[in-house]
Amino acid sequence: MRRSRPDAALFIGSGKAEEIGARLAEAEAALVLFDHELSPIQQRNLSQLWNLPVMDRTELILDIFARRARSHEGKLQVELARLEHLSARLVRGWSHLERQRGGIGVRGGPGETQLELDRRMLSVRVKRLRAQLEQLRKQRRTRRRARDRRPAFAVSIVGYTNAGKSTLFNALTGAGTYAADQLFATLDTLTRRLRLPSGVEAVVSDTVGFVRELPHQLVEAFTATLEETAQADLLLHVVDASAPDRDEQIAQVDRVLDEIGAAQVPRILVYNKIDRIGRAPEVALDRYGRIDRVWTSAAAGTGLDLLREAIDQQVSLWRDARRHGMAAGAQDADADTAESFERPEHRAA
Ligand code: GTP
Repeated sequence: MRRSRPDAALFIGSGKAEEIGARLAEAEAALVLFDHELSPIQQRNLSQLWNLPVMDRTELILDIFARRARSHEGKLQVELARLEHLSARLVRGWSHLERQRGGIGVRGGPGETQLELDRRMLSVRVKRLRAQLEQLRKQRRTRRRARDRRPAFAVSIVGYTNAGKSTLFNALTGAGTYAADQLFATLDTLTRRLRLPSGVEAVVSDTVGFVRELPHQLVEAFTATLEETAQADLLLHVVDASAPDRDEQIAQVDRVLDEIGAAQVPRILVYNKIDRIGRAPEVALDRYGRIDRVWTSAAAGTGLDLLREAIDQQVSLWRDARRHGMAAGAQDADADTAESFERPEHRAA
């Protein structure tokens, strides 16, 4: 039977829960993982029913993020997202904590339950983390302003997790960053210089990988890091051309880009991993005759010259717009920039 909506108490039907329970016992499972978000109540009920820890999609992603965060800021952001997730569990549903000692805090004065204490400790820690992150954000803004005075063409590499962003970043900039066949190998932005065929230097950033149904706390947590993406002059949207659901992945990434205010940034779609689908490197043009799609294999190093050319073309457009902007009035300059940087349409590949 197909349910029209998840069960409020168990997420799945009680018959299904029993069936899964039997399978869990048979397999001597140690942990149950749901590829979906669970409400605190559903999570608690299932955990009690099966007498096993139950983890939902959000928790798993938070866990992976916690292991992979590299920078101080990345680590703070993940901790904040985890505590916020946990505090939702404390407020609603995890009432058994009320009877439990030795939680997060030391027991307080009379009348104060462990739950109240835990909540209070959590909120103190959350406040401190927010303040630290705000401080880091301010420092980043100052750095960005300093960079703005010395303008370089800024390229951000974005894309679904595992599309090959880090591999492409390395192949383009000749650096040895971590590239691994696993989710979210990169969490924090890395930036390096790239010399283009025209001799111009651009700065390229490798960013966090996107994923379908990214838990909202995480989108929020990484908005600050991703703000940099919205400030870029060009986005390289890397797509795993061999992924069966690549169009869905493109749409997911576009959605996040819209959310972080990067919808207007010009972009080039990079169909990567062509070695897996037996396709030759090539480019496709938009209706203005500009390269808006490039087929590459970052691992094999093919199509990279085409990609560098495409970036160069965007740099010339950017320079023309700036030169034009300086000659014309400020208002005209804005209008002109907006027009010449019109977002390329994403036609099917
Ligand atoms: P996240 O950090 O999770 O967002 O991943 P990413 O997009 O940075 O991907 P990464 O560069 O780590 O590559 C993921 C996997 O794909 C690695 O195993 C790479 O070796 C592999 N890969 C990257 N580019 C290519 C390619 O052109 N062809 C093939 N066959 N594999 C590739």
